[in-house]
Amino acid sequence: MERTLILIKPDGVQRRLVGTIIQRFEQKGLRLAGLKMVQADRDLAARHYAVHQGKPFYESLLKFLESGPTVAMVWEGREAVAVARNLMGGTDGAKAPPGTIRGDFGLSVQNNLVHGSDSRENAEQEIALWFHENELVAYESSDNAWIG
Ligand code: RTP
Ligand code: MG
Repeated sequence: MERTLILIKPDGVQRRLVGTIIQRFEQKGLRLAGLKMVQADRDLAARHYAVHQGKPFYESLLKFLESGPTVAMVWEGREAVAVARNLMGGTDGAKAPPGTIRGDFGLSVQNNLVHGSDSRENAEQEIALWFHENELVAYESSDNAWIG
């Protein structure tokens, strides 16, 4: 079963879109395995976005992630990484298609509401960065046979 890390970034929390965003992942059929609210500090923000170090938007991106609480989640299911990225839409909210989270609720490139892991390997690293293994819950969901 594939897992992915999803963050509702500080703009999503401030704009009261937490419930709406969670609903997108839930209704798709992904299964929630972990959920918590985190006030990211500089160290966590920098480690999460280490791949972007040196880019012109890096400093602004860290300030954004530190600017308020984030909701961190682990969702699991068949092809969870790709499925979640499709639900999110592309980075720029102005270009992301309607029906996606960024396409429906955002206009900004930076303030784009959600983060999703971009590969299975990065997902596992990011899950380890944001969660202790004992914060993740394994359980059987009764609708498994219907969702696949
Ligand atoms: P994410 O990692 O947050 O899921 O987003 P992504 O894959 O769609 O985009 P990525 O290229 O990884 O960029 C990470 C985040 O940095 C901000 N960004 N700002 N000002 C800019 O040109 C710019 N480009 C990217 C966005 O918040 C983006 O989600
Ligand atoms: Mg990315």
